[in-house]
Amino acid sequence: WVRMVTAQTPTNIAVIKYWGKRDETLILPVNDSISVTLDPAHLCTTTTVAASPSFDQDRMWLNGKEISLSGGRYQNCLREIRARACEVEDKEKGIKISKKDWEKLHLHVASYNNFPTAAGLASSAAGFACLVFALAKLMNAKEDNSDLSAIARQGSGSACRSLFGGFVKWIMGKAEDGSDSLAVQLVDEKHWDELVIIIAVVSSRQKETSSTTGMRDSVETSLLLQHRAKEVVPKRIKHMGEAIKNRDFGSFAQLTCADSNQFHAVCLDTSPPIFYMNDTSHRQVKIISCVEKWNCSEGTPQVGLFVCFSLFCLGQCASHSRSLTLKQVAYTFDAGPNAVLIAHNRKAATQLMQKLLFCFPPSSDADLNSYVIGDKSI
Ligand code: DP6
Repeated sequence: WVRMVTAQTPTNIAVIKYWGKRDETLILPVNDSISVTLDPAHLCTTTTVAASPSFDQDRMWLNGKEISLSGGRYQNCLREIRARACEVEDKEKGIKISKKDWEKLHLHVASYNNFPTAAGLASSAAGFACLVFALAKLMNAKEDNSDLSAIARQGSGSACRSLFGGFVKWIMGKAEDGSDSLAVQLVDEKHWDELVIIIAVVSSRQKETSSTTGMRDSVETSLLLQHRAKEVVPKRIKHMGEAIKNRDFGSFAQLTCADSNQFHAVCLDTSPPIFYMNDTSHRQVKIISCVEKWNCSEGTPQVGLFVCFSLFCLGQCASHSRSLTLKQVAYTFDAGPNAVLIAHNRKAATQLMQKLLFCFPPSSDADLNSYVIGDKSI
């Protein structure tokens, strides 16, 4: 007999970034983070896990190619789920597997990403979240998604946030064994469903510095990272949580862009410096300035208010002129060159696409022809 389970898990995009570990083995972060989970129709992993007495070893295939399961991250996830396995009885198929049987049974895992790996968007987040979720169902583990997130975290930190739809917070936790470092859902996928996420594939080149190596170097050398983790992120987490709950797009966009920019500033502050936005920087700068300019110009209805205000309080003009603009789009860049753009609604997304296509006409560059458009939701 073979017992089989298939699961599908979307990837997530951090709007307050995770960057830096306080424990590399358990994957414990130096700060909380918040992400938005994409619609699985656009960027997701589908994983089938199977157990059978006829399997003689654990094996895994990724996009049809066999890969090794011997790495510590895979082994940690397998061990943790096996420890939580419960009895399974399938009368129709005549299968009965006891808790003890799960220790001896071998597994076969087949995993697919629905997005070309070559586009540089393949993410370990969806992969580990899907593996852990599918294994938990296969072995009848009774843990809830937050408990499972603490296991997925040991595969890849950002994976813990993909166990939920909507907006998700990874609480860094304090315990040394990592038991309180897990993900919780802030709001579900219906709460803010007019948001549209566009991923502009700026380059298909694989990143030169992996997140794991990059954050290790940043923790060891960047003073800005320490300041960010202690002083900046706790305030941003609070404000971002409020912006999401109130569907306040202006604050959401301001925080998202600022946090992406600070994450890349930490990378530059690292020794040796990491330039995730370097290889195609002219395009990234063009996308950022396109969004920044557009967000400012959309603020014209507020100019009157800004002028009045500035008469009374000239000293605060600059900061208030920023917060008074009607932002329509937020941008965020992860440890790679592709831009993730979050539009306020469908109208803003359509206008943004027109602007992007104007800045980067399809004929001028093959790489920039690909855009993933997806509603935020699971
Ligand atoms: C920039 O989760 O890929 O995307 O825990 O070492 O596997 P490991 O790193 P990973 O790092 C993601 C970093 C980021 C920001 C984020 O997703 O929060």
